[in-house]
Amino acid sequence: MISGRGSNLQALIEAAANPGYPAQIVLVISDRPEAAGLTWAGRAGIPTQVIASRDRTAFAAAADRALRDTGAELVALAGFMRILDTGFVESWRNRLLNIHPSLLPAFPGLHPQRQALSAGVRFSGCTVHFVRPEVDRGPIVAQAVVAVGPEDDEASLSARILAAEHRLYPLAVRLFAQRRLQIVGERVAVGGWATAPAAVLLNPPESLVSVGG
Ligand code: GRF
Repeated sequence: MISGRGSNLQALIEAAANPGYPAQIVLVISDRPEAAGLTWAGRAGIPTQVIASRDRTAFAAAADRALRDTGAELVALAGFMRILDTGFVESWRNRLLNIHPSLLPAFPGLHPQRQALSAGVRFSGCTVHFVRPEVDRGPIVAQAVVAVGPEDDEASLSARILAAEHRLYPLAVRLFAQRRLQIVGERVAVGGWATAPAAVLLNPPESLVSVGG
């Protein structure tokens, strides 16, 4: 489900075009007819549906019907800018993913990249999580980290995070499709995940200061 540019949708379309990818995109829903992402979907031959109703309940009912008609097993929000009806969120519980451009639970809501810059954090990134009725809350599936530099502004940080999003969302959907995500007490256990990357990243980097200086 999208509302605009659709670059995450595009990343998912590209991933799903790979014959080894374990998921296919059966429907793209947009709440805005002018969403650029609809063009990407159309070009890829994916059915699209615009549900423009401003009424939250009516929107949810139409979306739910369309999703069930297509046999969708997972709903991925990709730049979908509306708050969903609680009943919809509950009925798709643990089958509804969102991507957010911050390391949740830091900086939920609007303009997370701006929030990160104002807080002066040295790292930010993006999060794929299962959706709960509270905005940008829910069990975390995967995160990607990017370093924040002194020269960064909202545009440069957003672009770096977006590039990470395009790698992270296909990974998270793949894990879901492989049935490797299990929600245990509002935390996500990932099947087969034994170790995390060992790298430690310092920012500012150690090279900034001389050893012993
Ligand atoms: C992304 O930054 C996503 O994390 C956020 O909205 C933006 C959507 O971008 N939820 P796009 O439409 O996928 O290009």
